[in-house]
Amino acid sequence: MHTDRNTLFEKLWQNYSDVTPSAAQIHSILGAEQDQVIVNDHIALRTFNLAPVGLDALAQHFLALGYREGGEYHFKAKKLYARHYEHADPEAPRVFISELLTEQCSPELQATVKKLVAGVTKEEVTADNFLYSGRHWNLDYNTYRSLLEESEYAAWLAAWGYRANHFTVSVNHLQRFHTVADVNQLLKDKGFTVNSSGGEVKGSPKDLLEQSSTMADRVPVTFSDRDTTIPSCFYEFALRYNKPDGSLYNGFVAASADKIFESTHSSI
Ligand code: NI
Repeated sequence: MHTDRNTLFEKLWQNYSDVTPSAAQIHSILGAEQDQVIVNDHIALRTFNLAPVGLDALAQHFLALGYREGGEYHFKAKKLYARHYEHADPEAPRVFISELLTEQCSPELQATVKKLVAGVTKEEVTADNFLYSGRHWNLDYNTYRSLLEESEYAAWLAAWGYRANHFTVSVNHLQRFHTVADVNQLLKDKGFTVNSSGGEVKGSPKDLLEQSSTMADRVPVTFSDRDTTIPSCFYEFALRYNKPDGSLYNGFVAASADKIFESTHSSI
């Protein structure tokens, strides 16, 4: 596991931006507009609830860096459970980790996913690079397609493996843009597609969190039997409000996150 937080997030960003060219472009557009560094509100990671790759195993990498558990979230229709982790250092990005509750899925999906995960060792999961190590299994295109029919989440994870599913710009720290709607307008002006599932701005000041995201890039991926183009990762934007006690809200809003998950949906 990494002992330096900045190194971990730099490696995660490098690996993520390699397959998310729009994130790198938007990052530099906002950076140029701001003439300052972009602060990351949170990253999100995905996994299956199977040993040795369950949510807790991923979380260990952050607990070792001084993170502590925040809230937990349930996504019944998508068969997901999630938790967020936060750090006493306000500069540290929050971490949102979800896992697919495989036992609620079809016997076919369970058999497929068990086979994928069977080759992953505990040593791989605790290695420094695990959170940005990509796919640890062979995957053919038809298996990807059959997962996709049942669970977009399972298919994405099978294809991309371990990497940040998204990074998130903290709108609170932007100087020129003060609302999520303003950021969305900039994105659309520059030709990016904003996820409109549940509306372009998810959440409200009452929820203490407003979010939006791009739709995932479509990039080439190599399956064991062919190369093709599928959705990779997306970029998110978050504006947080103060709680009644005056401190910043650090949690997530399940109804909004539910729609954000759909940013990796494929139209095929
Ligand atoms: Ni997010």
